[in-house]
Amino acid sequence: MPAEIIDGIAIAAKVRARVAEDTAALKKRGVTPGLTAVLVGEDPASSVYVASKERACKEAGMNGRSIRLPASTTEEALLAVIDTLNNDPTVHGILVQMPVPKQISEQKVIRRIAQQKDVDGFHPFNVGKVFTGDVDGFAPCTPAGVQVMLAEAGVETSGKDAVIIGRSNIVGKPMAALLLQSGKTANCTVTLCHSKTRDLASHTRRADILIAAIGKPEMVTADMVKPGAVVIDVGINRVEDPSAPKGYRIVGDVHFESVREVASKISPVPGGVGRMTIAMLLANTVRAAQLTLEG
Ligand code: GUN
Repeated sequence: MPAEIIDGIAIAAKVRARVAEDTAALKKRGVTPGLTAVLVGEDPASSVYVASKERACKEAGMNGRSIRLPASTTEEALLAVIDTLNNDPTVHGILVQMPVPKQISEQKVIRRIAQQKDVDGFHPFNVGKVFTGDVDGFAPCTPAGVQVMLAEAGVETSGKDAVIIGRSNIVGKPMAALLLQSGKTANCTVTLCHSKTRDLASHTRRADILIAAIGKPEMVTADMVKPGAVVIDVGINRVEDPSAPKGYRIVGDVHFESVREVASKISPVPGGVGRMTIAMLLANTVRAAQLTLEG
């Protein structure tokens, strides 16, 4: 029997509905949660992401703003913009869209954002909190979204073998930390695989929960998956397809058609993890706003 689909669109809508409720409650207390996204340069994909973040904020009743700066912006000028946002009490979350142009240090930018406004969860302070299991911090949106998807899909994680492919700071490493914690939708035995892992399939075939975040189109094939495994596909890859209206189509890191015949549950691309990232960004921003009231 083909795997059950883990519907990221429906789960993200549920998260966003909760965010809208929390936003309405905060507004009654005189606080409108605000997220400002900063985009440096004109990268078309980044521009689309930033616009969709702004739109999603507005749909939830939050203040969504974006600041668009030219590609020639100096590091000093960007850091000054961040300082202004750090000091603006109407801004609860700050996001600088990555990547930034070459003349700007990504690490300096990440460290400059006030940790209590770092709704991306990229600041070393928040990274440390995620790794030490301190739930006061902000977890990066994509792995946090995967954890919510597992919970909503009713996946039992405790004691299970979770294998993650990809060791990025944005997905792989924090994903490993979240699944490793003691707590709900966690308690996994985690294996983190990467480009230098020997015999990748010998690891993936042991996985009860397999998470692919490598950025290689359809790399995970059915022979790499244990029958009955839960498969979460974080990849978003453009592949040429002359028969598609735009000349390309979007695929994940998992070969969906073959793997769905082996897995018990699988998240599709599109319609899977992608929708969760923005939903979790909104959830982090609302929490940042709530924390300002708690002092
Ligand atoms: N670029 C790609 N994904 C992300 C993200 O989650 N946050 C930021 N700030 N930039 C990104």
